[in-house]
Amino acid sequence: MIRKSKGPVLVIGATGNQGGQVTQALLEAGWTVHALTRHGTSSKAQALKAQGVHLINGNMSDRTLLTDIFPFVTGVFSVQNFWDLGLESEVQLGTNIIEAATRAGNHLHVVYSSGLGANQRQNVAAIDGKTVLEERLRTSGLPYTILRPGLFMDDFCGASLPFARPLQQLLDHHRPLVGRLFLATLQAVFPQDRKIPLTTLHDVGRLVQWAFEHPDLSQGETVEMIGASETWTNLYDIWESVTGRSILKVPGFGAGIRVFHPKMAALLTWLAEHPYAANAAPIELQGFKEWLQNAKRRQQC
Ligand SMILES: NC(=O)c1ccc[n+]([C@@H]2O[C@H](COP(=O)([O-])OP(=O)(O)OC[C@H]3O[C@@H](n4cnc5c(N)ncnc54)[C@H](OP(=O)(O)O)[C@@H]3O)[C@@H](O)[C@H]2O)c1
Repeated sequence: MIRKSKGPVLVIGATGNQGGQVTQALLEAGWTVHALTRHGTSSKAQALKAQGVHLINGNMSDRTLLTDIFPFVTGVFSVQNFWDLGLESEVQLGTNIIEAATRAGNHLHVVYSSGLGANQRQNVAAIDGKTVLEERLRTSGLPYTILRPGLFMDDFCGASLPFARPLQQLLDHHRPLVGRLFLATLQAVFPQDRKIPLTTLHDVGRLVQWAFEHPDLSQGETVEMIGASETWTNLYDIWESVTGRSILKVPGFGAGIRVFHPKMAALLTWLAEHPYAANAAPIELQGFKEWLQNAKRRQQC
């Protein structure tokens, strides 16, 4: 069954990486999109408005605002950025969405972007909040779909530098360098014999659109989204052959990450150990080489 009414859907984080792709996928498929943003006058928000997105100025911390909005939408895409918020606020803001959706009483379909490995608490800060939010959503009585993306390939091109926001702002005009630092981090910290689970942001958008369009198939489901699963050696070979660039080699980088960013080191270690289901998504996801070639063609990498 394909849903006939196309929204409106409220996209949280529409000016960001995941929500941005979700918004584009929904717009392209003819959905009506509302976007919650704290910065309605920002260039990103205004670009969305020019595409027909209805902007709602506000904050996920504003429970009254959420309660006012939710009766007027049919679905919500929910994402919180742990790296900006920290564990406590991530859980609080995500809970605000779930509680306001429940109060609305109109069986809102909540599509929540979690993360790979969130099926159990592991004392890994970047994952534990997502485990809590998954549990709260599952027991809320709401129709829900949970996505668990792997590491974003887009980060190899500098989409975000999740462990060093100030550095990202400093390096905003040097995205390829930001991407290469992320690659260097992976090389230094991820065990070389384990496969790295990878997902594209574009596929997050496509999968969320699929979830809203196929409620009979998607509701109640938790989808592990792995488009590619590569050992470091494979990943390096593909990277070098497609981009013609080598990986940054920074002596002592791995030790530095472990000391100065134990949360990132813990996340990568947990991901390396966590068993996951590759190719388990209900739509075909992009592989690494195909994605990198496209990104290079579009001069994104
Ligand atoms: N990078 C990876 O490999 C990876 C893989 C899997 C999962 N994840 C998870 O993905 C999450 C990050 O997602 P992302 O990359 O899409 O984040 P992002 O690009 O930083 O976007 C964050 C968005 O949230 C909005 N926002 C932030 N605080 C808000 C608030 N209080 N009220 C309303 N809106 C708020 C921002 O909008 P405004 O500024 O316009 O208000 C922005 O659009 C993290 O939790 C991370 O653990 C990352």
